[in-house]
Amino acid sequence: MSLRFNFLRKSLAAAARPSFARSSHVLAVHRNTKLNNPSISFEFTPENQERAREVIAKYPAQYKKGAVMPLLDIGQRQLGFTSISVMNYVAKLLEMPPMRVYEVATFYTMYNRNPMGKYHLQVCTTTPCQLCNSDSIMEAVHETLGIQPGETTKDGLFTLSEVECLGACVNAPMIAINDDYYEDLTAQDTKEILTKFQKGEPVKPGPYNRRRETCEPFSGPKVLLNPEPFNVKDFTRSDL
Ligand code: FES
Repeated sequence: MSLRFNFLRKSLAAAARPSFARSSHVLAVHRNTKLNNPSISFEFTPENQERAREVIAKYPAQYKKGAVMPLLDIGQRQLGFTSISVMNYVAKLLEMPPMRVYEVATFYTMYNRNPMGKYHLQVCTTTPCQLCNSDSIMEAVHETLGIQPGETTKDGLFTLSEVECLGACVNAPMIAINDDYYEDLTAQDTKEILTKFQKGEPVKPGPYNRRRETCEPFSGPKVLLNPEPFNVKDFTRSDL
């Protein structure tokens, strides 16, 4: 039997097997639930309305739909997730067809479309983190919290996601928890970090390898040796 025929036969056999729900299905499809359905009303708080006005003002009036991503982000931060009501509200605000907003919210994985725990743990398992033993980090999370990717702890504190590269490979392995990165982790560090979150204690973000401050080589910084030419706080939001 030729190789090509063999390949075709296997492909047909695979296509005939019953199909299973795929993760893309989970990402793209909305089903009404008690906590996430269009009859639940949503609107921005007065502070967020002001924030939204500032964002929209950055776009020419005829292109204000360009503000859809930051506005969805504001909605997600306010409610805790990007519900169908958040999407509909943003669509109305930007005078867009709701479907256009759904397309954006289902394309970008940064929008969580189901209720989340107070702390969203994103464990990176892409190659550099994997080579630095991200498996042990995942195990440590599971041992400490008893959840698998996609699950939330019963107390509503933590939701766990397994994610692709978060751009901190040089400090692998790492976890993002809400807006902060925790890097150069060991299983023990991970357990300690999670325990502190459980107790409501302050937790230091950044590298956990005592041999460096940020992402410089262990032998010390080689570039950017001059003092900072500007203050980062002048360019970032103070409320995040
Ligand atoms: S591979 Fe994990 S942060 Fe890049």
